[in-house]
Amino acid sequence: MDPDWWRDAVVYQVYPRSFADSDADGLGDLRGVISRVDYLRGLGIDAVWLSPFYPSPLADGGYDVVDYRDVDSRLGTLADLDDLIEALHEAGIRLIIDIVPNHSSSEHPWFRAALASPRGSEERERYVFMEGAGADGSEPPSDWQSHFGGSAWERTPDGQFYLHLFAEEQPDFNWSHPDVRKEFLAILGFWSDRGVDGFRIDVAHTLVKDLAHPLRSQPTIDSLLPEDGSDPLYDRDELHQIYREWRELFDRYDPPRMAVAEAWVPASRRVRYASPESLGQAFNFDLLRAPWDAAAFAEIIARNLRFADEAHSSSTWVLSNHDVVRHATRYALPDGADLDAWLLEGRPLGPAQALQGDRRARAAAMLVLALPGSVYLYQGEELGLHEVSEIGIQDLQDPIWRRSEGRQKGRDGCRVPLPWTAAGRSFGFGANGSHLPQPRWFASHAADVEERDPGSMLSLYRSAIALRRLLRTEGGVSGLPAVRRDGDLVVIEREGGLTSVTNFSSEPVRWSHGGRVLLSSSDLTSEPTIPGETTVWFGELHESSIAEEAGS
Ligand code: GLC
Repeated sequence: MDPDWWRDAVVYQVYPRSFADSDADGLGDLRGVISRVDYLRGLGIDAVWLSPFYPSPLADGGYDVVDYRDVDSRLGTLADLDDLIEALHEAGIRLIIDIVPNHSSSEHPWFRAALASPRGSEERERYVFMEGAGADGSEPPSDWQSHFGGSAWERTPDGQFYLHLFAEEQPDFNWSHPDVRKEFLAILGFWSDRGVDGFRIDVAHTLVKDLAHPLRSQPTIDSLLPEDGSDPLYDRDELHQIYREWRELFDRYDPPRMAVAEAWVPASRRVRYASPESLGQAFNFDLLRAPWDAAAFAEIIARNLRFADEAHSSSTWVLSNHDVVRHATRYALPDGADLDAWLLEGRPLGPAQALQGDRRARAAAMLVLALPGSVYLYQGEELGLHEVSEIGIQDLQDPIWRRSEGRQKGRDGCRVPLPWTAAGRSFGFGANGSHLPQPRWFASHAADVEERDPGSMLSLYRSAIALRRLLRTEGGVSGLPAVRRDGDLVVIEREGGLTSVTNFSSEPVRWSHGGRVLLSSSDLTSEPTIPGETTVWFGELHESSIAEEAGS
């Protein structure tokens, strides 16, 4: 089997509780995913990344894990997971699962034991417990802030504090403890033995902290991290000792297990996580924050291709995931709009805004699919889903809402269960409603509607992914592309005959190219122009390959 399959893969993120519900409890499950493997095959993806399915009290959408070797009973059983692996593999799709090593759930047996044991006990050493500051020790040990708002320290009944960089139900492990290191190696081995092909490592940049006394200040978590690894909490060089051990384990398998780091670090530091001795690949989130602008996109693309090459890795391209406002909506709102304020307002997009978002989202999808490296898609983006801003506060699940004291609504708007059919209860998600309310406008984005429409977002994703595959195999498209900005155009020229041109302005721009048009994200009217907010692929594929692809 090709050990490098992940380098150029199209990976589809499944957020299992919101994908498909097979047992009518309103929560998506593994049998639901199995029931949609044909859909995934039809989309042409190479791999699924499955967000956490482990037993969890759901304090943070499953990123609070009670048992790292099991399946939440509401989502199925280990046997269902084995069936899912088999069904995906039969369809030629690999499976990447999420590993959450920074913290467990506060319901994890180790943390329960820690709370039940006295200060200074071995049980507490596996997490980060400390005495409080101030004359009577009632103040948090440092000014460290939780990502979800408020202090990162929680006081226990006996007066000690424990560290949680996320919700208080997610205590941070102490990664200098040998038990923690041994346990995660065993967990990674457990899933690798079961046939899982790779791992997405949750907040891979946070495991190691500088806990030397006095604790250093880190009051502004959103400020840019230093480029020398000197932050007390994030992106410390010692992390890579851990990942080197993991890499040795991954490389014992055939093919080696892949891993991709979720590391919110400066682009120059990403190389460390992506190196072959470490995790091998790292998410590049630059496009999540990029304005709709040719110069910004061209710069991000060129820079990340360079970094990935330096790391002997391959780049990753991400427009959306379960943590951010969906990109169709980001592109619908004015550049620089306050997304939190828009979500709090709770008003859906106007029709003209939505159209602009759709048009740009189509162009952006084709742009990233023209690039070398792995494209990570988030469930629903292939249907052109927008963020759901209308969720009432009584229905919010994200701990961000509570911990930010109502200043941020959180991430539920991109986690609303998918519409599979225009008709029926919960748009075909399940037989009995959905755990987050779906808006009426989901009907026009339902998979069954889009499947029948050659002009839909789904049809565009299918065609682009199929062509990408064909260009790689038949056309021999390979190597690093030339990336060029020409006014409002971003031009990607790939060796082997693909030229992708994206027009970021809303007006048509003159452009002539000798090759034939392989695909366009909007209707081409008068050549030689690229319509506004459109990507066009030009290339030299043989008629027969295209016809074959269209017919398959
Ligand atoms: C990652 C996940 C996010 C989660 C956080 C804590 O950023 O993507 O969903 O809340 O880690 O585990």
